[in-house]
Order: sequence, then structure tokens, then C-alpha cells
Amino acid sequence: MGARNIIPVNRPSVPAHAKKYLDECVRSGWFSSEGPFVKRFENEFARYLGVKHAGATSSGTAALHLALLALGVGPGDEVILPAMTIASCYFAIWYTGAKAVPVDVDPETYCIDPDVIDRAVTKRTKVIMVVHLFGHPCDMDPIMMLAKKYKLKVLEDAAEAHGAEYKGRKVGSIGDIAIFSFYANKIVTTGEGGMVVSNTKTYIERVNKIKALNHSKTRFIHDGIGYTYLMSNMQAAVGLSSLEEIERSIARKRTMATLYRNQLSGISGLILPVEKSWATNVYWMYAVRMDPKAHLSRKKLIDLLMTKYGVQTRTFFYSPRTAFRKLQLFKTDRFPVAEALERRGFYLPSGLGNTNMEFIRTSHALQKLL
Ligand SMILES: Cc1ncc(COP(=O)(O)O)c(C=O)c1O
Repeated sequence: MGARNIIPVNRPSVPAHAKKYLDECVRSGWFSSEGPFVKRFENEFARYLGVKHAGATSSGTAALHLALLALGVGPGDEVILPAMTIASCYFAIWYTGAKAVPVDVDPETYCIDPDVIDRAVTKRTKVIMVVHLFGHPCDMDPIMMLAKKYKLKVLEDAAEAHGAEYKGRKVGSIGDIAIFSFYANKIVTTGEGGMVVSNTKTYIERVNKIKALNHSKTRFIHDGIGYTYLMSNMQAAVGLSSLEEIERSIARKRTMATLYRNQLSGISGLILPVEKSWATNVYWMYAVRMDPKAHLSRKKLIDLLMTKYGVQTRTFFYSPRTAFRKLQLFKTDRFPVAEALERRGFYLPSGLGNTNMEFIRTSHALQKLL
């Protein structure tokens, strides 16, 4: 299989105005976080979501850390989070000295299961961190009700769900605070980068202060520990050009999902992603899972997809027990749904630069193999 024929899991697409805006950075000499694109990108992103305030950051992981600090999370606190997510969510909690308390996920949406959160709440719980996984929103109403009942804050991780909607509201605008990642494979990208958003002004003021060394009113006299979690003007320039295309990008993802669904529904052995009646899924990745009754193992299938058809796929995240076994953490915890997804889930080529032909070729390969 020649490299030319490989269908990558994520083929990037370059926004039309990226070069023009980057040229402006070069012409003006504004490369750092002080440049004008950062504010423009923050304002436009907040406007798109319908939230009041936004603070750009160096990554989604940094955004998670800052959002937790803005909420006042620290040693002795507990944060509830889903057992199927990227390690960034756990690491950000640990950076603050708080305890991460995973709970299992919903078997259809793969997002945090609202029905099991209740059992994980203790006197020390401060935050519920929800993750809108693979582009599908979490079921927010019961989560917000629980948060109200126990006086907890809700942090939405919308890194994978730019523009996804829950009952007509954009994810990232529902909880107390939210974060986004703009890593290269995200719907809006800055290459590397992130954003914290909130309707609470003090949260974003805290984020913006702590992300830039936590200076007090007197520069170089510090109110506490600070970081340099900043987004550069060049990253924001790319981000703004990418944000200009968000509607088209989401439409592209949804076309991809329709193509895959038309080609793949009815194939035995493969379970396709859902879109709940209350959700608009932006299909950041087209995430499928093997039916346990399939005649091939996942390993065999993804090996054959690559060796016979040149189709690259990627398996889901691991559950915390597997992901952190070298750290000797969560050794005895059990998350049956997340653990089944860890064994059976994988995603198909889903990039904004992938072509319809590539989606069809991938589907045909799956039809043949299954
Ligand atoms: C759900 C989720 N949260 C957080 C992050 C971390 O973002 P970043 O890679 O920008 O640090 C990612 C990854 O990209 C993610 O998928």
C-alpha cells in the first residue's frame, strides 16, 4: 500500500484567510500574546457561543487547569469526571492538588452518565467536569439539577464539540465555566491552543491573571503562583480564520456522518454513533464500536483496514484503570461501560480535509471486511 493511497484518520484543512492574517502578524511584528488577534479571537469566539467572556490559552489542558483554579479548586477538593476521556482532564485536576473521582459513561453517547454522578458526590466534591465526547453533547439538564442540589460547579470540557448543541444551546454556554481545545485536529484550530469561557466575569479575570504570571496591580509583585499559559498572536490569527469557517466545517462533519451512516447502517458487527433527540452532534470524530458478536476482533479489523485498504483508524481513550496503571491509580475501580469502549471503540477517518471519496472507500472496506 503506497503512502499516497493511505486515508489518514485526520486530514487537516487550511482556512482561507489563515495566510492573510499570518501575513498581518509578520507585517506588524506582533507575534506574542499581546497582539490584536488574541482579543479579536476571544471576542468572536464568545459571540459565537453566546457567552459573555473568554480567555485564550496555550492549550486545552492549560484551559482545564485554569478553569479549575478559577473555580477555586485545590487540595482537599474532589472533582467528578467521566471514565472515558483524555488524560488532560485528570492531569488538570491533579495539578491543583485535588482528587479526581471518575464515574462511568452512558453506553450510547459515551458521555458522563448523569445517573451515576449522585453516588460519587461527597462532602468534598466541588466540581462536576463533563466532557462532550467526540462531538456529542452530555445530557446537561440532570447534571445541572444535581449541581444545584449539591451546590456544585459545572465545568464543561467542550474540546471536541465546537458548535454542538444541547436543546438548542451551544455546549460551553450551559455550565458555570467551559473550556475548548484548538489542537490541529479540532473543528476550530490554532495548531495548539485553548480557551476558557464563562458568563461570570471574575472567573475569566482570574484565568487571564493566572495564565500570565499572576502579577498583582504592581507588575512583578505576584498575588500567587502563576503560569505562562498564553496564546500567541499568530495562533489567534489562525484561530480567527478557522472560526470564520465554523458553520461550513460543522456542515462538512455532518455530511461525513450522513455518508458513513448511509453506507454502514445495516452492516453487522459495527455500532454507529447516535444523535439524541435533544442533541446536535458535530461528529468531531466518527466514533464507532465493535458489536461483541462481530466475527472479527477490533485488532484484526483495524489491522486489515490498514494493510489491505490503507485506512487509518484510531482507538478510543483508555479507562482510568488502564491509562494510569503505571501510576498505580484506580487499580480496583470498575467502569464497565468505559472498559467495554476501551476494548471495542475506534474512529474512522474524520478530518475536515478528508474527501467524500475517502469516506466511501473506508465504508466499502468495512462492508467487505464485516
Ligand atoms: C476532551 C478533551 N479535553 C481536553 C483536551 C486537551 O486539549 P489540548 O490537546 O489542546 O491540551 C483534549 C485534546 O485534545 C480533549 O480531547
